[in-house]
Amino acid sequence: MENYLYKVLLILTLFLFFLVAVDSNILNKHHRKSRFKPIYPDPRFPVPFPINDPTNPINDHNDNNNPTSDGGDTTIDEEITRGDFETDFNGAWELLSPNSGVSAMQINLMPTNKIIVYDATIYRISRIQYPPGVPCVPFMDEFTHQMKQDCFAHSMEYDLDTNQARPLKVTADPWCSCGGLAPDGTLISSGGFRDGSRTIRYYGGPNCQKDCDWREHNEALKEDRWYGSQTILPNGDFIVIGGRRSFSYEFLPKVEGQITDKPYFFPFLYETSDLDENNLYPFVHLIPDGNLFLFSNNRSLLLNPTNNKVVRTFPVLPGGSRNYPASGMSALLPINLNNNNVTAEVMVCGGNNPNAFFLAETRKTFLSALQDCNRMVITDPNPTWDSERMPSRRTMGDALILPNGQILFINGAQVGTSAWWDADQPNLTPVLYSPEKAKGKRFKVMKPTTIARMYHSTSAVIPNGKIWVAGSNTHDTYKDHDKFPTETRVEGFSPPYLDPKLDNFRPQIIEQTSTKDLKYGVNFETQFSVKRGFHLTKNDIKVTMYFPPFTTHGVSMSQRLLVLKNEAFVKDIIKGVFKLTSVAPPAGEVAPPGYYLLFVVHRGVPSKGMWVHIQK
Ligand SMILES: *[C@@H]1O[C@H](CO)[C@@H](O)[C@H](O)[C@H]1NC(C)=O
Ligand SMILES: *[C@@H]1O[C@H](CO)[C@@H](O)[C@H](O)[C@H]1NC(C)=O
Repeated sequence: MENYLYKVLLILTLFLFFLVAVDSNILNKHHRKSRFKPIYPDPRFPVPFPINDPTNPINDHNDNNNPTSDGGDTTIDEEITRGDFETDFNGAWELLSPNSGVSAMQINLMPTNKIIVYDATIYRISRIQYPPGVPCVPFMDEFTHQMKQDCFAHSMEYDLDTNQARPLKVTADPWCSCGGLAPDGTLISSGGFRDGSRTIRYYGGPNCQKDCDWREHNEALKEDRWYGSQTILPNGDFIVIGGRRSFSYEFLPKVEGQITDKPYFFPFLYETSDLDENNLYPFVHLIPDGNLFLFSNNRSLLLNPTNNKVVRTFPVLPGGSRNYPASGMSALLPINLNNNNVTAEVMVCGGNNPNAFFLAETRKTFLSALQDCNRMVITDPNPTWDSERMPSRRTMGDALILPNGQILFINGAQVGTSAWWDADQPNLTPVLYSPEKAKGKRFKVMKPTTIARMYHSTSAVIPNGKIWVAGSNTHDTYKDHDKFPTETRVEGFSPPYLDPKLDNFRPQIIEQTSTKDLKYGVNFETQFSVKRGFHLTKNDIKVTMYFPPFTTHGVSMSQRLLVLKNEAFVKDIIKGVFKLTSVAPPAGEVAPPGYYLLFVVHRGVPSKGMWVHIQK
C-alpha cells in the first residue's frame, strides 16, 4: 500500500514538472524560442502623455478647417431631418468572376473603373499566363539551382464593366507591400519581399493611358518595407511607415523614378514590437488637423508628418493585439464637414491575443479572435476607448466605409491569425455597423457567403455601391484542392442599401451637368434625379466623397469618407431635376488631392458613385 502511494506521488510530481516545463516553454515569452530576435518584452513608450507643444496643430487648425456658411442657405428648407430608410434586406451575394487569374492579395480601385490586383512573384505560379509576345521572367530555382522561366502573371487589371482580367507584369516581388492612389491617378506601390523590398512601382496615370503595365524602380527606398503601411498626405505625397524590422518611415519621392531622401527613426514602432511582431501593417489615418493617427499593436499616437514630432499619445487599448499578424481592423469614421468643429473618431476592432500567432505557427492551436470593437474621438482633450461587442469574432477582416457612412466588416476568420495555415473557421458573415445609431443598435448581421475569405483576401467599395470581394490564399503556393483552396473567384456583395425596394428612392447623378473638378473650399453643383423624390428636402440628402483605398492584409490604406456641407438646394420642376450646391472640402488635410467617388445619398440610399477630382 505504501509502495503504491509512493508511486502515485512520484507520478504526480513528474506530471507537475512536465506542466511547469510546458508552461514556461510555450507561454513564457522570455524563455520561448522565437524566430525573431527578441526586442523589448515590454514597450517602453510612456502611457499616455500630452505634449504641451504650443505649435500643436490640434489647437490652431480647427478654425481654418471650417468653411463658414456664407449665407446661401437662408431661404431653404428648414424641415426636420427624417431618418434613413429602413430595410430588412440583409444583403445579397453574386459570383462576378469564376476565375480572375491572380488571387487578389493587394488591390486598388482606379478612376478608370479597373481594379489593379497583384499577389507575389515568389509563388512562380498563378492561374493566368502572360499573353504571347510578353517575355517570361527568368529566375533561379532555389531547390535545384537551375535557371527557370516564370510565365505566370502575378498582377492583373480587373475590368469592373466586363469582369475580365488582363495580365500585368511585375517582377521585383511585391508580396506584402503597400500602396496608394496618387493625385494624378497613378497607383504607387512601395516595398515588398527580397528583390522587391525597396522597390517603388507605378501603374497608370498620365504616364500611361492605354494598356498600361507596371513601371518598377528598384532600390528606390532607403529601408526594406515588408508589411509597411503607406498613406497619402495633405499635399498629395506619400509616407511609408514601418515594415518588418524597419522601425522608421520615409517619404516617397515626388517624381517617378527618383529615390527617397532619408528614413526617419521612429521608436514607437520598435517599442510596440513584441515577440510575435504584432505591430506590422500599422493602422494610419490622416485626420483633419493634418496629423497622422498611428495605431501599432495596442498603442496609438498622433504624429505630425511635417515636423516629425509626436503630438500626443492615447490610452492603450487593452484586450489583445490589433495589427498584423493578430490582424484586427481599423477605420477613420466618416468626417462630417457640417459640424463647425470637425472631429476625428477612429475605430479598432477584432484581432487576437499577442501569443496567438506563435501558437498557430508552432502548434496549430488557433485561439479565438477578438470580438470587441472600440471607438475613440481622438480630437477630444481626454479621449478614451469606448468598447462594444461585435456579433462575431474576426481576424483578418476588412473594415470598409460605405458610401452612406456605414461601416462593413467583411472577410477573415474566427480563430487563428494571419500567415500560412494559421487560421480556421472562416467568418463568412459580414456585419454592418451604423456609427450614428445608439450604442447597442449599431451592428446588423448580414447574409453569409459560401466562399472562405481568409489570409490574403481583400474587398473594395466599387462605384455601383457593391462590394468587390476577392482573394484568399492561405498557402505558400496556389492550391486547387484544400480545405481553403487558393481563391481566384470574385464575388459581389450588395449591402442593404441596394435593396431593390429602395430603387425608387435612389438618386441618379446626372454626370453631364455635375461638377467633376473640385477646388478646395469652393462651392460646386451636383445634379440628380430621384424617381420618388416629390417630398425630398435638403435635409434628406447627403453628398459624400470616398477616397479609394489600397487594401491588403485587412488594412485599407488612405481610406476616408467625407460628408460635405450642403448649401443651396433647388428643384427644377420642369426637368424633374434637383440641383444641389455643396462646399468642396476646405483643404488637403481634410481631403488629400486626387480622385474620389462622389455619392448623393438620399436618407441612407446612395446613388452610383461619380468620379471627381479635387485639388488647390
Ligand atoms: C500591450 O501589448 C504588449 C505587447 O503585446 C503587452 O505586453 C501589454 O501587456 C499590452 N498592454 C495592455 C494594457 O494590454
Ligand atoms: C471641438 O471639439 C472638441 C472635441 O470634441 C472639444 O473638446 C472642443 O471643446 C470643441 N470646440 C468647440 C469650439 O466647440
